[in-house]
Parts: sequence; C-alpha cells; structure tokens
Amino acid sequence: MTFFPTFLYEMKEKIAKIQQEVLGFEITDQVNLEQFRINFLGSKGEIKSLFGDLKSVPVEEKKEIGKLLNDLRVLGEDKYESHKQGLESTSFQKESIDFSRPGETFTVGSHHPISLVRSEIISIFNRIGFVVSEGPEIEDDWHNFSALNFPPEHPARDMQDTFFIEKGENEMALRTHTSSVQVRVMENQQPPIRTISPGRVYRNEAISARAHCFFHQVEGLYIDKNVSFADLKQTLLYFAQEMFGEKAQIRLRPSYFPFTEPSAEVDVSCTICNAKGCNVCKHTGWLEILGCGMVDPNVLEAAGIDSTVYTGYAFGMGIERITQLKYKVNDLRLYSENDVRFLKQFTPSI
Ligand code: PHE
Repeated sequence: MTFFPTFLYEMKEKIAKIQQEVLGFEITDQVNLEQFRINFLGSKGEIKSLFGDLKSVPVEEKKEIGKLLNDLRVLGEDKYESHKQGLESTSFQKESIDFSRPGETFTVGSHHPISLVRSEIISIFNRIGFVVSEGPEIEDDWHNFSALNFPPEHPARDMQDTFFIEKGENEMALRTHTSSVQVRVMENQQPPIRTISPGRVYRNEAISARAHCFFHQVEGLYIDKNVSFADLKQTLLYFAQEMFGEKAQIRLRPSYFPFTEPSAEVDVSCTICNAKGCNVCKHTGWLEILGCGMVDPNVLEAAGIDSTVYTGYAFGMGIERITQLKYKVNDLRLYSENDVRFLKQFTPSI
C-alpha cells in the first residue's frame, strides 16, 4: 500500500480540480479568453501558484508531481492558443470578407494586330518550307542598296526617303526594306535558299493615315536550279488563299524594282466586297498587296551566287497593309498610338 502524505494528496486533488476547471471553462469571445488567461496562465493564476507549491514537495515525489503540473500547464496553454487563433480568424473574416461583394475581373492582355498577322504570314510560309531570317535595322549602303542593284542616282537613296545615321564613306542608315537581310543570307549560304525576313523598316515619310515613317515587312526569297515565274505565281496564290480565304484570286501587273527582272505588283481580289466593287478597292474589285519578281542576275552575282546555274524569285509585302485588309483598319497611325480601345479589340476570347 502506498502512503501519501496529506500535502501530496491535496496537491494531486488540486491539480485534478484545476484540470476540470480548465476543461470546463467556456471561451466564446475575447473577454472570457482574457479571463481564462488571468485565471489559469497569468502570473497570479492558479497553475503558477501550484508551481510555487512544488518547492515544498519531497524530492522523491517531485518528478511525478512536476509532470502532472506540466501537463496541466500545457493543457491550459493549448486551449488558450487554439481559442485565440479561432477568435482571431473569425473576427478577421467578419471584418474583411464580404461574401456579397461582386467578383473582380482581371484584364487579359492581347497580341498587337501586327504581331498576329506577322505570325500568321510566317506560319503560312513555314508550311511550304520557308525559314525565318533576321538582320540588323541599321544597315550599310551595300546591303540596303548597292548589292540590290540600286544605281547610284536612284531616288530611294535620297535623304527624302532614307534616314541616314552617317553619311560619307561609312554610310549607315535605317534599313528601308528587309531585302537587306536577304543579301546577308545569300552572302552566307549557297542555294537552295528558301527564306522569309520579317522586320521593321524605316522611310522618311510624313505621317498620315496612309503613310508612316516606320512599318513592317515580310520579304521572301527562293533560289535554286530552275526556279521559274510560274513557281512565284503559284506560291503567291497559295499565300493569298491561306491568308484571305480559298476564294481569293490574284492578278499580276508589270512593275519595276532594281533587284528583280521581270518585276510585278500583285493584287488580291477585294475581300471586303467579294470583288464586286466598294470604297476600299475603289470600285476596281482588286487590292494591291505586294511587289515581286525574278531575282536580277546582278543581285545573285553581287552576293556570290552563280547566276548561270541558279535562278530565284523574291517578293515583299507590308504587314500593315495585310492587317488593314484582314481587320479593316483604315488608319496606319492606330498601330503605333497604343490606344487600348483599338488594341483591346484583338483580345483573344478565353
Ligand atoms: N523591297 C521591296 C520594297 O521594299 C519589295 C520587293 C521585294 C519587291 C522583293 C520585289 C521583290 O518595296
């Protein structure tokens, strides 16, 4: 039979009683949470005072009583903390979450229409084996003009058309077309060459609804043995139908470019009125979309390609022009003004 001195017996009774009180104490708000803390955990609380009594417990019993007291303290602290957190989170919810408030919509960005059409043109030509090549926007005279068979007195070289960065011996200018990129490709690669060069180009023009000092082009180049004008026509018809629909037709009118011979300008049947005649096509049923031709042998030779073995075709189009026809945009300035009312119209539907 174990003998408990009265003091120890009383101590255990007290611990059990306080344990019951701790368990039974109802905490429903901040006020009785604080009361709980004062009663049990505070410096004058019941548990603290029991710890004070521990001093008087005989050494051999200290371990057991100490453990009982410690368990009681942990019980009290746990209960306090969990109620405290519970009350905090409900009061937080009450304050800041209004379940009746309408949801916030988030704004989805959009691709610029020029980027959309640029990607579409690239993908149409990718499908028939053209790869993208890029080059610098600041060009020397050779790549922008001389290698492309521009005679020295050609008006495009004039200050009126070209933005020069440096005149004189090391003449540098903002490229006026991406044909310069094609010269670079031909200098670095022997045929077969099948490439398109998308990029920004610059011309010194007064800004208006129909002209801008910069715009975007995609130029194409195909060089191999036996490339013919018929190949060029077929490629352009394929492009027009992929871009504007399978009913699209093309027509070629003779033209002149220093770097192609023969040269042509290409019209597509008006997609807006189905070639019946409207304001956009000026009642002709046709819209001009690009320039093209067979690469002049002088250009092949200037870039180190044997013109007795190889022939090729080239074409070049303005991305703004294709975008204008595809999305019926009637003012070139809209593309660079960053007006969100315009840009928002190209937001993809999700
Ligand atoms: N480089 C011409 C331009 O800028 C377009 C073009 C390219 C024409 C290739 C014919 C052949 O207008």
